[in-house]
Amino acid sequence: MNLFPDLKRRYTSEQLSAREAQRQAEFIAWGPIVFQVSRLMLKFGILELLRDSSDGLTETEVVEKTGLSQYAVKCLLEASLSIGTVLINTETDRYTISKTGWFLLNDPATKVNIDFNHDVNYLGWFNLEEALKEGRPAGLKHFGGWTTIYEGLSSLPKQVQDSWFGFDHFYSDSSFPEALRIVFAEHFVRSLYDVGGNTGKWALKCVEYDQDVEVTVLDLPQQIETMQKNIAGKQGEKRIKGYGINLLDKEAHFPKREGGLDAIWMSQFLDCFSPEEIVSILNRAKEVMTSDTRLFIMETFWDRQRFEPAALCLTMTSLYFTALANGNSKMYHSDDMRQFVLQSGLEIEAIYDGLGQGHSIMVCKLK
Ligand SMILES: C[S@@+](CC[C@H](N)C(=O)[O-])C[C@H]1O[C@@H](n2cnc3c(N)ncnc32)[C@H](O)[C@@H]1O
Repeated sequence: MNLFPDLKRRYTSEQLSAREAQRQAEFIAWGPIVFQVSRLMLKFGILELLRDSSDGLTETEVVEKTGLSQYAVKCLLEASLSIGTVLINTETDRYTISKTGWFLLNDPATKVNIDFNHDVNYLGWFNLEEALKEGRPAGLKHFGGWTTIYEGLSSLPKQVQDSWFGFDHFYSDSSFPEALRIVFAEHFVRSLYDVGGNTGKWALKCVEYDQDVEVTVLDLPQQIETMQKNIAGKQGEKRIKGYGINLLDKEAHFPKREGGLDAIWMSQFLDCFSPEEIVSILNRAKEVMTSDTRLFIMETFWDRQRFEPAALCLTMTSLYFTALANGNSKMYHSDDMRQFVLQSGLEIEAIYDGLGQGHSIMVCKLK
């Protein structure tokens, strides 16, 4: 298996002493409450208070500042000592924030992941076992009776939607500036299909970046409605069209474009599908491609991350797809995606790595 160096170092040899490994095992056993305590240390503002205090705070000072009971503060602070998000000075009994606490508070990726896990995934994780055995998103029942989360996206409760979109956009948004340069500066693109274009964020960026490009967003019909509302009144809106399509339907073909098509853009899209579905979608994309068309697949491949924590986020995200999203897709290893591309009869012209939060772009063309 190919792995970028930091992952190779961490994943191919034992890193912990026996005592550390035992502690790690307990950390896993208590994982759900480690998560909830830490989330509440953030929500109740305790970590922020500790960060902003010059020499830390006593338990009583935290009680006074938060309005929580002594009991609640004591439980949270003592558990946080064990979790490792706070430290205590045993001379003064003052608590301070630790490095881990600081990241929890200040790292935007961590904030997005906590909200995503609490609001979208937490109840559904309980049904992971069924989901893995049955290949269906058994945890989705907590929100509704859809077959996949995508059908229900526009009708999820507001806070769940906010956390879902916050997660999705956080990862793709930070890669868009560099991606625009790759797509438009290195290729001739006047027409582009944005497949799984969601709220139209990328489409808007394209029409803003290039005054001549015309974008068609392909997505589920209900998502196209949301997209159209979202782009209304924005710059370049007239050069964005919507096309409602369910690509799980093997008979659903990409619309033919008169005059040819320069680019097909799939950002964080193919990870929503199983290997067989991906090959089927790529085969249908191929039908509207000419030798000049380029297909850009932007994904966060877990093996191509510079730093291991990013790979951790991705291999864990795979289980969101299992339990909540559709039961059969994942964040893929780039070798898997390479296979799907080759199986569909396309070839890979180039791969760009290290965009934003760890995206890669695979540029594909007809063989
Ligand atoms: C994870 S989002 C990616 C959004 C956006 N491209 C980005 O990079 O942020 C996946 C998108 O694929 C769409 N999608 C999922 N299943 C689909 C299907 N069967 N047919 C068409 N679009 C689908 C979803 O509605 C959603 O907008």
